[in-house]
Amino acid sequence: MANVEKLKTVKFYSGEATPLEMHKVRVVQKLNLLPIEERKDSIFGAGFNTFLLQNRDVFLDMLTDSGTNAMSDNQIAAMSLADDSYAGSASYTKLEKAILEVFNQKYFLPVHQGRAAEHIIAKTFCKPGTVVPMNYHFTTTKAHIEMMGSAVEEIYTEEALKIKSDFPFKGNMDIAKLNQVIEKWGAENVAYIRFEAGTNLIGGQPFSMANLREVSAIAKSHNIMVLMDTSLINENLYFIKIREEGYQDKPLKEIMHEMLSYTDFSYFSGRKVSCTRGGGICTNNHDIYMKMRDWVPLYEGFLTYGGMSVREIEAMAVGLIETLDFNVISHSPTFIKYLVEALDKKGVPVITPAGGLGCHLDAKAFLSHVPQGQYPAGALAAALYICSGIRGMERGTISSVRDANGDDVLADVELLRLAFPRRVFTLSQVKYAEDRIQWLFDNRNLVGGLEWTEEPPVLRFFVGKLKPIGDWVDKLVAKFRQDFGDSL
Ligand code: F0G
Repeated sequence: MANVEKLKTVKFYSGEATPLEMHKVRVVQKLNLLPIEERKDSIFGAGFNTFLLQNRDVFLDMLTDSGTNAMSDNQIAAMSLADDSYAGSASYTKLEKAILEVFNQKYFLPVHQGRAAEHIIAKTFCKPGTVVPMNYHFTTTKAHIEMMGSAVEEIYTEEALKIKSDFPFKGNMDIAKLNQVIEKWGAENVAYIRFEAGTNLIGGQPFSMANLREVSAIAKSHNIMVLMDTSLINENLYFIKIREEGYQDKPLKEIMHEMLSYTDFSYFSGRKVSCTRGGGICTNNHDIYMKMRDWVPLYEGFLTYGGMSVREIEAMAVGLIETLDFNVISHSPTFIKYLVEALDKKGVPVITPAGGLGCHLDAKAFLSHVPQGQYPAGALAAALYICSGIRGMERGTISSVRDANGDDVLADVELLRLAFPRRVFTLSQVKYAEDRIQWLFDNRNLVGGLEWTEEPPVLRFFVGKLKPIGDWVDKLVAKFRQDFGDSL
């Protein structure tokens, strides 16, 4: 075990920094790579919205890592042991034990997925006149907090929104801003401070243990609770281990326990952290547990399943324990780093340093000729699908909202997120992504903007439809054929 804790990367004799799969593939799913003309028809059919593509028309599905991670053989084996009962299932007891082992948390409330935990937490602790300071919001988190009448204050550091940076902990909170927010609202009106591990919307960026420790001390001095969203904790744990001074030789379990020791409670989406579905809320504080407990049977299901299938619960217990295996948690970040650094070297604008959730292309720089009002991140998502069959997710102005005058609220950053579901893609698939992104970058001037054809009033990015402005799609397809001949 001691060796595993010290293991970092496998060095190649050639000196090349090549990520290496530390698992073998034993179950496979066939992929389709449609010819570009059919991909063009599919994206028109989907209203230029990658959420509306059919998975059978997608080659590499990099939309999200949520619920799309590969399970281990041990997780699948555990599923067959499921003790199916409404109350008091032995599978649930195993999950409680895993929560104690991995997070060192005594009390657990199961829910059907991460946002259900957000619902219960916001319902219990948020009310008008209160505020939740956080390093950065996640879409569903913010919606639940605001629905209860609380405000959200984002107190990220100056580095956080810089596309190009070598700052290792862009997920840190700005301590001066935190003190100002507490002063402005009054400590009694701070519902809790929320720390998101592996900060999703700024590119899967981690916080440091030092920053967490400092925030926790400030919170304690004001009697404010600290909540951690641990949905992306695997990668945050990995980055603390390899990037933060003093943690290189510490066992992952110890680092994880230290992280959680600075919280009053935490929650996770099992669709991410444990490579399953489901989710839950953890705490060592009995009062906090009791305040939320009775909402679980009302909204989710009885306390020993919380809306999850028992098979899922078995797999979750194993998946959580596997979080403490360096080979498991290093896979995604090392493959992401490979793609980010390869693209960066070629001058393709990407968020640096590489984070833990995916590779994020900076669409504002990539398509600098497309005005933000014509949705460069959406156009880039569609163009990449057309030229490669790769499905990414728009994280820009389409994912934003309109103001009271009906004008677009332009996003801080226009990103195309290419998520890396854990242990799903091989290196040659990542190289294929690199190749097609490079081609698209070299032909970026052919890509134009988008306009709405159907725009829903809420969460428009999920089901809204758009069309290209002008005939840029035909030009892109023609150039592809010219360069690639009859290749797929
Ligand atoms: N917190 C974070 C940091 C997340 O990334 C997500 C989901 C949630 C909470 C909500 O969890 O989906 O289980 O209800 N992120 C997904 C994504 C949807 O694609 O990034 P959930």
